Amino acid sequence: MESKLQHIHNEALAQIETASNISALEAVRIGTLGRSGSISALSQSMKNVPKADRPRFGKLLNELREAVSSALEKRATALNAEADQALLSNLDVTLPGTQPCIGAIHPLTRLLNRAVQIFHRMGFALAEGPDIETEWHCFDALNTPADHPARNEQDTFYLPDGRLLRTHTSTIQTRVMESQSPPLRVIGPGAAYRRDEVDATHLAQFNQLEGLYVAADVSLADLKGTLSFFFPELFGPGTEIRFRPHFFPFTEPSYEIDIRTEALGDQWMELAGCGMVDPAVFEAINARRGDRAYDPDLVSGFAFGFGLDRLAMNLIGIPDIRMLAENDIRFLSQFC
Ligand code: PHE
Repeated sequence: MESKLQHIHNEALAQIETASNISALEAVRIGTLGRSGSISALSQSMKNVPKADRPRFGKLLNELREAVSSALEKRATALNAEADQALLSNLDVTLPGTQPCIGAIHPLTRLLNRAVQIFHRMGFALAEGPDIETEWHCFDALNTPADHPARNEQDTFYLPDGRLLRTHTSTIQTRVMESQSPPLRVIGPGAAYRRDEVDATHLAQFNQLEGLYVAADVSLADLKGTLSFFFPELFGPGTEIRFRPHFFPFTEPSYEIDIRTEALGDQWMELAGCGMVDPAVFEAINARRGDRAYDPDLVSGFAFGFGLDRLAMNLIGIPDIRMLAENDIRFLSQFC
């Protein structure tokens, strides 16, 4: 019996010593101390040992169990240390880490935020209006006659109740003047909607930024000064700006603005509409309000509006404007 004990002892220690990894070591543990392992089998055979020898045998068995489990433990510690060492030797601490992306501001929002900040510095407050509008706020108040092509059902989304999705953010001008008296200076960003065929350069829902300044003695020079400051602030010094005569029903005179800047490929790009608020607009507002707060003999104003989507598209250099609206994470993750 004693030699059997000795044999198991030697064999277990040899196996422990040669176990080359944690799972091989675990196999040795199961083969010795496990429920049907060799040491457990020895305990089972205790009942065959003569009574007189049992205490001594029991003691030897305990010593064996302790020797094997402490050898197992020692070997496990050594194997774990070896594995850690191997891992560390493959670790290049000079490699750049992987940055987790926690989300980012959409390029359109980033452009809008910058524009809003520049106007904020010039004293423009932020204004809003609803996307679903009345014909009056979108067209009538803005001096746009009933037969104007923009009012056509082919161009404008009408709701069954006669309201519509605003075709431009100039409705914000109407809303602001309806509820606030001059002097006032606001910008109004928001979505606008037109029944355009959606393609690489057109969206049926797009974003505009409107501006309105009404006070005593606002002149065309103020309009030019404001926008001549704004665009180089947005696109960098060296940005050129030109005003081309144009027509809008709600401004007189009216202009389109083109800019040329390195950020947009150094080509003239048509960007915005603007002009001096038409007195007919002031009178429509006065009639609605029932006062003379916007008496054209006492106040004047300028307004401008421009689209943000095509601008963002050109600034970040993407070939298709729809990428701005699709929310495809493969496109957006580059802005992380
Ligand atoms: N609302 C016009 C457009 O969408 C732009 C504009 C705004 C023109 C304000 C003049 C004044 O094209």
